[in-house]
Amino acid sequence: MVTLSQNSTTIRHLGLPQSRRATLLLVLSLYLLGHATSSSSSTFSDKHNSDLPEHVPAVANRTSFPAGFLFGTASSAYQYEGAAAEGGKGPSMWDAYTSKYPGKIADRSNGDVAIDEYHRYKEDVAIMKNTGLNAYRFSISWPRILPNGTLNGGVNKEGITYYNNLINELLANGIKPFVTLFHWDTPQALEDEYEGFLSYKVVKDFVGYVDVCFEHFGDRVQHWVTFNEPIAYSSYAYGMGMMAPGRCSGWMNLNCTGGDSATEPYIVAHNLLLAHAATVKLYREKYQATQKGEMGIAHVSQWGIPLSDSKQDHKAIQRGMDFMLGWFMDPLATGNYPRSMRAIVGKRLPKFSKEESKMLKGSFDFVGLNYYTTFYVSNAPPSNPLFSSSTTDSRTNASPMKNGVPIGPKVCLLQSIVNFFIKWKEISNGGYNNSRT
Ligand SMILES: *[C@@H]1O[C@H](CO)[C@@H](O)[C@H](O)[C@H]1NC(C)=O
Ligand SMILES: *[C@@H]1O[C@H](CO)[C@@H](O)[C@H](O)[C@H]1NC(C)=O
Ligand SMILES: *[C@@H]1O[C@H](CO)[C@@H](O)[C@H](O)[C@H]1NC(C)=O
Ligand SMILES: *[C@@H]1O[C@H](CO)[C@@H](O)[C@H](O)[C@H]1NC(C)=O
Repeated sequence: MVTLSQNSTTIRHLGLPQSRRATLLLVLSLYLLGHATSSSSSTFSDKHNSDLPEHVPAVANRTSFPAGFLFGTASSAYQYEGAAAEGGKGPSMWDAYTSKYPGKIADRSNGDVAIDEYHRYKEDVAIMKNTGLNAYRFSISWPRILPNGTLNGGVNKEGITYYNNLINELLANGIKPFVTLFHWDTPQALEDEYEGFLSYKVVKDFVGYVDVCFEHFGDRVQHWVTFNEPIAYSSYAYGMGMMAPGRCSGWMNLNCTGGDSATEPYIVAHNLLLAHAATVKLYREKYQATQKGEMGIAHVSQWGIPLSDSKQDHKAIQRGMDFMLGWFMDPLATGNYPRSMRAIVGKRLPKFSKEESKMLKGSFDFVGLNYYTTFYVSNAPPSNPLFSSSTTDSRTNASPMKNGVPIGPKVCLLQSIVNFFIKWKEISNGGYNNSRT
């Protein structure tokens, strides 16, 4: 089975959802990859036909897709649930971050209430049903299940009840639940105790958490996603300081909370991959035979086309893909990081033991891919080792524009990526420049 899913971008990209209906429809329209403005019927026709490439049919409906193809929408707990300090939930890293650094969010908003799905899930499921969806990928908030992150700290029964209610409501309405186990909201207690995913200790606590999820929800959930967009978590949060816990190197002058962009993203990614493998192992050994579900992961990757016809730009594309998709998919497919990463990152890239490689290899039943856009990619020279970062190690430049012209038709999603890209370029240029003077 092929499942395509599309989640909303991070809070910093798009701002927090304003209205519930608007948000669900926004996510839906992202899911349709901007081919149409969403409508509540299952047939849609695009109002901006002239923007579409010729091979995209003007009218598409379910008959354009294979039987059994699922149309769904997706969300993350922090962006949707609200009820941040209710129902026995412990604080997540995002709760602590937005409360301590309100200025880090463009409009100083936070997820304390979000779109209040915790209280209004029935209404949300009704909107999904009315829209004609048959799948919903939501994430479980780890600190809603384990308020201090650990099994020893106790299981929060109200949290279990909430997800049971949501799952049952979805099933009663013919909507398949796809459950993401982690969408970036690490329990703050574990951040305080050992810096969360920067520590290998996180693997054991994560396995304790997912065990509770499988035990309580696995009789009805058939599709599990261990991690959402691991590269966003490792590089945006620990390399660019853009998301909680807001870490990056001091030389970037981004007012980060601490960090080292040359090493931390790789350490976080490594521990995350080990937690993924341990999760799949647990599920396969303890639950899969009886629950018969599938385990996967949701990557995010752009595709690249060469900026020029030069051999170097063609090579740069493979390298760029290695550093984006290969970083997380190669270990699952081969048990190791891509060769180009090992060569360039060298000692800064942690190594898997033989046993860990074995556990990683083949640790998936399906692969999820979030796709936003393709970029023009060109070769870039190695950066000064004093200013290394996981975000520049691929030695590529990537842009959704060439000579100021966006790569595809203008739809809201591409526009927001272009805007974000321009902003990030400005920030990173400023940071880099400042560090040298
Ligand atoms: C769905 O699309 C097909 C092919 O374009 C078309 O023949 C059919 O009439 C459409 N069905 C509906 C209900 O719009
Ligand atoms: C850096 O962050 C702190 C804490 O959020 C804030 O008070 C300060 O204004 C920020 N400084 C700059 C230059 O953004
Ligand atoms: C969680 O709670 C348990 C039991 O009270 C305690 O032993 C443990 O140290 C706590 N862990 C954290 C990370 O706060
Ligand atoms: C870099 O910083 C120097 C000194 O602060 C400044 O004069 C120069 O204009 C800056 N360059 C750019 C491209 O911002």
